[in-house]
Amino acid sequence: MTYALQTEAVTKMYGQTGTSTLAVDAVSLAVSAGEFVALVGPSGSGKTTLLAMLAALLNPSEGRIRIDGQDLAAMNDKERTRFRGEKIGFTFQANNLLPYLTALENVELMLRLNGRLDTAGKARARGLLERLGLADRLNNLPSQLSGGQQQRVAIARALVHNPAVVLADEPTASLDTERAFQVVETFASLIHEQQRAGIMVTHDLRMVKYVDRVIHMVDGIIRNEVSDRQQIELLALTGSFEAAEQFALQSPGGLPGVLAQSLAAFALPGSH
Ligand SMILES: Nc1ncnc2c1ncn2[C@@H]1O[C@H](COP(=O)(O)OP(=O)(O)O)[C@@H](O)[C@H]1O
Ligand SMILES: [Mg+2]
Repeated sequence: MTYALQTEAVTKMYGQTGTSTLAVDAVSLAVSAGEFVALVGPSGSGKTTLLAMLAALLNPSEGRIRIDGQDLAAMNDKERTRFRGEKIGFTFQANNLLPYLTALENVELMLRLNGRLDTAGKARARGLLERLGLADRLNNLPSQLSGGQQQRVAIARALVHNPAVVLADEPTASLDTERAFQVVETFASLIHEQQRAGIMVTHDLRMVKYVDRVIHMVDGIIRNEVSDRQQIELLALTGSFEAAEQFALQSPGGLPGVLAQSLAAFALPGSH
């Protein structure tokens, strides 16, 4: 099977030997088309570094990355830049929208830069913004949009060129909880519908309820992964891996078991 994204022992060492930081330590992972993965873990655990390598923005010290079956290391800089523009979409915490372009122009820019702003591309840019609830904001400048609206424009821009892989680093960091849930839910739907491989870094475990798998990074390695639906729901509810594990151990029934337990805790003595 060919994964949309695959790494083999990918490693990043910053600085010189002696004073170096091992930011990402031999991480191997594979993400399928149509799969949405959350990358979580404490600050400094290597999430952004890993994402930058997957986006072909940073060369690994060791290991291998394949996007859509193609080895990034086998390309020269020019080929890699071109490949990035075709196969990879990304959005970072600072959404980097250009202030003097409208929402629609910001999304179209991605295609313009690749020389692919044709009629179909224009329709796709408009369609994505409409899908993200911005039909009446197409011609607004970023300064005329709320934080959540700007973030949705950035998501449209990350998807408009039909990339195989979509990477988002803390896309909800500047949003309130309700907006954050909306943005991630729509992002998840688009990834599933359009069969992209999506990876989202988030510090907010509540957001993981929309993903198919949670990868927990600590000190540059993958500490553990959760792909069981009920475990993911528990993680999103409790906000901690430890609590989710505890709950799962205490109630073999998973989420229904936990809910039954907490309902039982509310029942008044002698009321049944
Ligand atoms: N450009 C850099 N030069 C040197 N060290 C860096 C650089 N970027 C990140 N680091 C270090 O690498 C480690 C991982 O950082 P980062 O990938 O930003 O983690 P996260 O996104 O999980 O907070 C940290 O120890 C950080 O200080
Ligand atoms: Mg980071």
